[in-house]
Amino acid sequence: MTSTTNRQILLIEKPTDKLGPEHFKLSEAAIPEPGDGEALLRVRYISLDAANRAWMHGATYRSAVEANTVMAGGGIAEVVSSRADGLAPGDIVFADTGWQDYAALPAKHLTKMPRIEPLTYLLSVYGIAGLTAYFGLLDIGKPREGHTVVVSAAAGSVGSIVGQIARIKGCRVVGIAGGKDKCHWLTSELGFDAAVDYKDGAVFKALRAAAPTGIDVYFDNVGGEILEACLPQMNNYGRIACCGAISQYDGAPSATGPRGVPGLIVVKRLIMQGFIVMDYMKERDRALADLQSWVASGQLKVQEDIIDGLENTPKALIGLLAGDNRGKRMVRV
Ligand SMILES: NC(=O)c1ccc[n+]([C@@H]2O[C@H](COP(=O)([O-])OP(=O)(O)OC[C@H]3O[C@@H](n4cnc5c(N)ncnc54)[C@H](OP(=O)(O)O)[C@@H]3O)[C@@H](O)[C@H]2O)c1
Repeated sequence: MTSTTNRQILLIEKPTDKLGPEHFKLSEAAIPEPGDGEALLRVRYISLDAANRAWMHGATYRSAVEANTVMAGGGIAEVVSSRADGLAPGDIVFADTGWQDYAALPAKHLTKMPRIEPLTYLLSVYGIAGLTAYFGLLDIGKPREGHTVVVSAAAGSVGSIVGQIARIKGCRVVGIAGGKDKCHWLTSELGFDAAVDYKDGAVFKALRAAAPTGIDVYFDNVGGEILEACLPQMNNYGRIACCGAISQYDGAPSATGPRGVPGLIVVKRLIMQGFIVMDYMKERDRALADLQSWVASGQLKVQEDIIDGLENTPKALIGLLAGDNRGKRMVRV
């Protein structure tokens, strides 16, 4: 590689079933020239998100990722040169840079970020993961002291923060995660009151034991069978914050939805609400102030999972979908 080369990971084919390395290709192009109103960015960290896989299915809250294009993805980048007002070399931004070394993007698509240490916090606790956990739990879930809060994908980037915020708010917190080690980590390191290993089978029974007074708030990252196990255990007037549906992303969608929708929602008078974190960006400062104070006081632990090398990005996403990450996964480019 020379300094004029831009390495890029292309999605060469959309998967019809499980995502594999054969769906990607490492390619090289010239470093782009920024146009009027654009900045040239050097990508520093690429965020790995379960949603990256969902974008391959079709348009969601953003347009679909198409075959033979640079794989889309958010990242933290440094401005190399700028032809846009308000951006100068050395500035740090968050943007949909895609999986590549360099990107030239219009300034209106960049969010200027403070240069903090470690920079990775801009993707984890002070980035989309932390903000999603904060707004999804507090604005949609509305937990109160003494409530039982259950969160799925609890050892992941969003889930691990959700559970800790719920603890800070005085709730009993139950995490659902895959494997004994992750479950042990949730209770011993992150302060969860209980954890359920969904890979051990009998989720419904284990959940009943972990949440004996029922569930007041369920923060749903996964949908599918875990949502089905939670629904009958919801207390009357409970709330389900629908954050994502990881169980449905990697492969063909299941033929039937979870049983209990809408019957249990009716009889238990539940509120089930989806949300997209971008809708809350105007209120970001409120969330950041809280998150920063919890991190500073040690009440909120930040778990990051950093993998080196752009060429390892496909493997990092495939692994995340299989559950081999703990906390926020990202690639250092
Ligand atoms: N609404 C929004 O604005 C918004 C914003 C950001 C993210 N999200 C959503 O938040 C959720 C978390 O995403 P993330 O990117 O932060 O990923 P993550 O939680 O860091 O990692 C994904 C985790 O999901 C678990 N998982 C994978 N397949 C599963 C299955 N079939 N059933 C149960 N768990 C499974 C795996 O852990 P185990 O080992 O426990 O299986 C894996 O580690 C996703 O649903 C994502 O779409 C929503």
